[in-house]
Amino acid sequence: MSAPGPPIGMLAELTHRCPLQCPYCSNPAKLLKANTELETADWTRVFSEAADLGILQVHLSGGEPTLRGDLEEIVSALSSRGVYSNLITAGVNIKPERIGGLKDAGLDHVQLSVQGATSEVTEKIGNMKGAHEQKLATARVVRAAKLPLTLNAPIHRHNIHQVEDFIELALELDADRLEIANVQYYGWALINRTQLMPAWDDVMRQVDIVEEARERLRGVLLIDFVTPDYYAEFPKPCMGGWAQDAFMVTPDGSAMPCHAAHTIPHLTFDNVKDKSLADIWDSSPAFDAYRGTDWMQEPCRSCERREADFGGCRCQALAIAGDAAATDPACSLSPLHATMLKIAGQTQAAGETADDFTYRRIGTQ
Ligand code: SF4
Ligand code: FES
Repeated sequence: MSAPGPPIGMLAELTHRCPLQCPYCSNPAKLLKANTELETADWTRVFSEAADLGILQVHLSGGEPTLRGDLEEIVSALSSRGVYSNLITAGVNIKPERIGGLKDAGLDHVQLSVQGATSEVTEKIGNMKGAHEQKLATARVVRAAKLPLTLNAPIHRHNIHQVEDFIELALELDADRLEIANVQYYGWALINRTQLMPAWDDVMRQVDIVEEARERLRGVLLIDFVTPDYYAEFPKPCMGGWAQDAFMVTPDGSAMPCHAAHTIPHLTFDNVKDKSLADIWDSSPAFDAYRGTDWMQEPCRSCERREADFGGCRCQALAIAGDAAATDPACSLSPLHATMLKIAGQTQAAGETADDFTYRRIGTQ
């Protein structure tokens, strides 16, 4: 199936290097080393192609993108073409003047990850001493520079009791937006699923807290809620649908429809060093594999929601059903939905006595 129109967004993973070691990182288990990363000139050319293609926003991610010494040049390549740039950062080891330099280069927005609402939880999850205080300091510098700020809080069993505190923290830091994002189980989160799976009662309590806060803080703080797949009735349209309006590029230049697409064994990915973004978007076989609805099986094929959620997540379908073209088992209409709920219950129970995390590090897996 051909491309539905130009993409709106692109996620640029500038590096897999990171000072934190979060056990739910969306990067692949086999992390790329620094010597495989695209050069500055590659990224600036890619961003020029992105602008030509009509892309409106680029999310600069990692790993930790500020570890790239050329980040200012990269941001400038986007702003010079009028493309909105969002820096997704862990907010540690960043000198305050760096934020000013990035703003001067044209940075539009900062998204700061928060692992916990207290030092103890942040340090446990990120496996870095002093990380919490550094994050708060970075958030204050960002707001002092008058850059819009989003806090992103990935939620799991070790911090689900802190949802109210995350909301307070976002208010205290004068954030514009807070994402309460229940961890999605692919990449490192799948490796650590037993340790991370929250209990049903805690998930339901969290839903109530978020709904109440959304109402109370309307016009003050925007709260986005990424619901937990394992306890869902219907799935999310992962990435807005496979190759529908967004895609990502890995540190070494592979263009993929989503973070975990490399786990689908029969797919091969074009590289931005070999092909233009326009060619890749229009005709990459990996992008065409699950684009639109023609590839769907039942019950998705005849479901009235098929163009709303595009059958959910292909990578989750592969991980649970063993078939990337199956209905996402997060869907209550999937024959494997009960299995997914059972896995949630079993892993949650096993998590009570599970060993410590397998922390994200190069060479761990
Ligand atoms: Fe979505 Fe498929 Fe479930 Fe319908 S059957 S709600 S299209 S995942
Ligand atoms: Fe790959 Fe959802 S993570 S489609």
